[in-house]
Parts: sequence; structure tokens; C-alpha cells
Amino acid sequence: MADKATLTLGGKTIELPLIVGTEGEVGIDISKLRAETGAITFDPGYGNTGSCASAITFIDGEKGILRYRGIPIEQFVNHPDFIEVAMLIINGELPKRADRERFRDKLADNAHLHEGMKHHFDGFPSGAPPMAILSAMINALFCYDQNFSDPESDESFEDSAARLMSKVRTIAAYSYRSSKGLPYNYPDPKLLYCGNFLHMMFSMPHRPYEVDPDIEDALNLVLILHADHEQNCSTSTVRMVGSAQANLYASVAAGVCALWGPLHGGANVAVIEMLESIRKGGLKPEECIKLAKQKDSGFRLMGFGHRVYKNFDPRSRILKNACDKVLGKLGVKDPLLDIARKLEELALNDPYFVDRKLYPNVDFYSGIILRALGIPLDMFTVMFAIGRMPGWIGQWKEQHDTPGGRIYRPRQIYTGPTIRDYVPMDKR
Ligand code: ACO
Repeated sequence: MADKATLTLGGKTIELPLIVGTEGEVGIDISKLRAETGAITFDPGYGNTGSCASAITFIDGEKGILRYRGIPIEQFVNHPDFIEVAMLIINGELPKRADRERFRDKLADNAHLHEGMKHHFDGFPSGAPPMAILSAMINALFCYDQNFSDPESDESFEDSAARLMSKVRTIAAYSYRSSKGLPYNYPDPKLLYCGNFLHMMFSMPHRPYEVDPDIEDALNLVLILHADHEQNCSTSTVRMVGSAQANLYASVAAGVCALWGPLHGGANVAVIEMLESIRKGGLKPEECIKLAKQKDSGFRLMGFGHRVYKNFDPRSRILKNACDKVLGKLGVKDPLLDIARKLEELALNDPYFVDRKLYPNVDFYSGIILRALGIPLDMFTVMFAIGRMPGWIGQWKEQHDTPGGRIYRPRQIYTGPTIRDYVPMDKR
């Protein structure tokens, strides 16, 4: 392939350099385009725009490949250790045993919240969406952590990463406890990351939660599968906010808000609502598929389709297998699993979905596992956020460490009125 692209515009021809990634994907560097031609590119939804170079996650959407720092996602299935994966994503390498223990100690040391923070939970009305609480509380956390976000030193940054990951998990559990009017459980330093979360969610004063290793493994796997996914909507938001040199906490809080949307992480709730409405008889699977194909219905088959994957999302394959395994081990029979399988079968044999290359995405089966683990529906997207923390933290750090970084500032094609005069109020 040539090492440059040429563009002719208004009789002038310019050469645009190519950038080639380590997996051979090609980008046309248009950073001088406007200076040389006066024109900009137009790409609503950024489907053809590379916003950065990144060494963290590789996706080949055509082939259905996902790798963290080069390691295929499938290879983590038999090693469900979310902390190891978090360190891989943030630092670039799998940790040695001593490094993992050091990070685990930091997570344990930072699991508690400042007592002053607990009062913030009381200020939210009952029924407040946990994603709203999570985002607000991450910003509040910065007020208690202002000295801990020095990204210049690796050691100090590791402290910040551990604090944020650990406290986000505590905030998530406390937002649930507060919404149910239940007493908060202090973190237990003897428990590992996922077990401690389950304890803070479910222990009662008279009945401590007993961590089942199968549940702990399943939760580790779910979090691993959500740990990073390159420049998706929430991660791009984290980078957008981070590009203004906003601190890590503010950037991640913004990422939580983006993730909340039903077209993004909020889809894991929407999928269960859709499956529930089928189970209750409101809709037959065939009607659901029909509705999803009618553009004017405003209805989409939730958990299906993806901007990047035009093949199976490998995470959905892993989760589908995990559903069978986890539900079997826990002895859970969930009618929603059969409905999901039926919907998948119908969609994968329907020309509408086949022609558009719409396959199940990560959200299609994740909710069924979360239900089996006892996680309440309104916490599903929060679980996604806990899982995505390493990705947001690693991407923020990578952006911070990249020399010559500029503030993100897309342009637009203006389509409003041309110049006109102000009209005083009594003449309008
Ligand atoms: N149901 C029905 N039709 C769909 C669906 C769906 N779930 N997804 C896409 N389509 C159709 C579109 O209407 C469009 O049809 P057209 O070509 O006739 O106009 C075509 O497939 C291409 O879809 P786009 O809208 O261009 O896909 P885009 O990349 O913009 O959106 C998205 C991707 C948002 C994920 C979309 O597939 C969707 O809404 N899915 C359901 C929500 C969901 O599951 N979101 C979670 C995604 S994974 C994540 O963020 C963690």
C-alpha cells in the first residue's frame, strides 16, 4: 500500500500521511487538512474517525476479536482475576505476584469511605438512580482526595487508581444500601475485590454474607469482560474531559454519565426489561423481532448490534456459555435465558439482522448472570461501571502521558441562519 493518500479539492492536490497500527489498520492523518485546504471532514457519530492512537485494547469488529494489551479476551475465562486484568490494562503488563499483592493491599487499605461522605447518600431521594449517585459521588470523592491524583509519578498514580477502583466499589454498594434503607457494611479487608463488594451489598447485621467462590469467579469474569473496549462512548467522554486537563475523578464521573445511556451501558437494563415483558406475555419473541424491524416503532432489539462488531461480540459468546455454567452451578432456572436464546435464534435467521450484521453484544446475556448472582436490576449499569474503571483509568493515563496532547475540540458545519439583525422585543 502507498504510504500517503492524495486528496484533490478545488484544483489543489495535497498528500496526507498514513498512520498504520501494529495490527495493520490504516488511518489517514488529516491533522493539516484544514490548514492546507480550508475544509474539514464530516463524520457524524465519528464512525470513521480515529480520535487517538492507543496501545491498550485491540478490536477487529469484522472478525469478532477483542484483546487486552494483545491477550485474547478468551484467555481470561479460566483465570478470572479482575485485579490482574485491571493492572494489565492500566500498566501494560500482567503483574508479577508481588505487584498484584501490593495493589491488592492498596485496594484493601482504600476500601472505606471518609465518614463525611456517608452523609451525601442521605441527601438523595429514595429511588434515585444509582448511576446518578455514582457519578455525583465520584466527583464528591475528589473533594476528599485532592492530594492523590498526581499523574506524574507512577507510584502516586497507582495509589490514585487503587483508591478510585476501591472506593467506587464501596460507593456502588452504599448507594444500593442507602436506596433500600439498609445499614452500611464496612469493607472487610480479609475479602478480595469481588467478595468484598458482595459482602458490602448483602451482609446483614445478624447474617454475614458468605462468599460463594462460584459467585465470586462469575463476578470476576463479568467485570473482566467489561474492563476496556477502546474508544467507545464513555471512554471517549473520559478522554474528552481529560483533554481539558480535568482531573481523573472528574473525567471518570463524566464517563459514568455517558455509560448510563440505554444505547450504551444502560442497555443491560433495557435487555432485561425487554425479556421480562416477553415473559409476562406483553410481547411474543416473534412480535419483538417484528417491532425491532419497524423503523417508526422507535423500538430496537436491545443487546443487539454494535458500532464496531459486524460479527459476534466475543464477550457475548463468553457470557452465553457462562450463563449455562453459572446458572447450572447455582441451581438457578431463569426463564429469561430461554427467551434470550429464542430471540437470538430468530434474529440470527432473519435477513434484516443478517444483512445489517447485527449480532448479540455484551449486554445481551450479562444481565442474566447478574440476576443469578443476586444483583438487583437497577445496579446492572453500575456493575458495568465498576468493570470499566480500569479502562477509563488506563485510557486517561495514556492520554495524559502522550506528548503533544491537545484539547479535544471537534469542528462543525454550521447550518443556521446567515447574518441578520437583532430585533428589539416590541418589534418581534
Ligand atoms: N435493533 C434493530 N435495528 C438495529 C439495531 C437493533 N438493536 N441496531 C442497529 N439497527 C439497525 C439500524 O436501524 C440501522 O438500520 P438501517 O441501515 O436500515 O438504517 C442499521 O441497523 C445500522 O445501525 P446503526 O444505527 O448505524 O448502528 P450504530 O453503530 O449507530 O449503533 C448501537 C450501534 C447503538 C449499539 C445500535 O446497534 C443499538 O441501538 N443497539 C441496541 C442498544 C444496545 O444494545 N446497546 C449496547 C451496545 S454495546 C455497549 O455500548 C456496551
